[in-house]
Amino acid sequence: KGANGLDKVVLRQGPRISAEVYLYGGHVTSWKDQFGEELLFVSNKAIFKPPKAIRGGIPICFPQFSNFGHLEAHGFARNKIWTVDTDPPPFPVPISSRAYIDLILKPTDEDLKIWPHSFEYRLRIALGPGGDLMLTSRIRNTNADGKPFSFTFAYHTYFSISDISEIRVEGLETLDYLDNLQDRARFTEQGDAIVFESELDRIYLGTPSKIAIIDHEKKRTFVVRKGGLPDAVVWNPWDKKAKAMADFGDDEYKRMVCVEAAAIEKPITLKPGEEWTGKLELSAVPSSYYSGQ
Ligand code: BG6
Repeated sequence: KGANGLDKVVLRQGPRISAEVYLYGGHVTSWKDQFGEELLFVSNKAIFKPPKAIRGGIPICFPQFSNFGHLEAHGFARNKIWTVDTDPPPFPVPISSRAYIDLILKPTDEDLKIWPHSFEYRLRIALGPGGDLMLTSRIRNTNADGKPFSFTFAYHTYFSISDISEIRVEGLETLDYLDNLQDRARFTEQGDAIVFESELDRIYLGTPSKIAIIDHEKKRTFVVRKGGLPDAVVWNPWDKKAKAMADFGDDEYKRMVCVEAAAIEKPITLKPGEEWTGKLELSAVPSSYYSGQ
């Protein structure tokens, strides 16, 4: 059991590498490396209680990213209780040496009232022997009425960092982005890498499958690899927005950055019986081992 009696699953590889998953939200809340060091940020003020989504870790935004639609912000998957899937269909990933858990989410009658589409969402969370964390989402349209549905999606990952002014994000140079702070106007990234000097909230479009977050002070680089997810959101709330969030400490913005593998600009459409796969692979390497693209 985790906080407030919520169910959680712990995945382990050896004595120190681990990940924790709450069934509430199908939400990864911890990912530790071979030194037992935490790699994900979770706010000290996070509320581990429905219906508020957990502030930090890896919230799943489905079937809607942010307010791109009429649903609650970031959709409802992050505040539903998922179940352990004991009989998943075969996943196209080798699992021999990985610790993993399969979860499933299906809509309740209440969910169908706000989003009238029947689906099966299977989520596999796997931890590799070297500590890589892999999330595979498979979403199937199970509508019996013959209707397609469309959704937007994000793995809203909160990375733990030494200091927001010490990091840079590489892999998004020269790309177009929508700026959430300027009515989603479209701009083209000009800099060599993204650095942070104030609030930043952008949706980068059509990004490469690999993005790096380089933490100079920690001498650590996070490598984000994604599949089926063309976009990437980069977010830091900075001081003012941090103060405005009840479940986030005033100074915590310095220790986190969100880099989110996403499908936003072009929603995913599934016909009945069709399935979509969206993958996220995270690794943390000493910066000296990281040689860029
Ligand atoms: C980011 C959005 O993905 O999530 C931001 O780009 C938003 O605009 C942030 O503020 C946090 O959202 P929430 O609903 O978890 O507070």
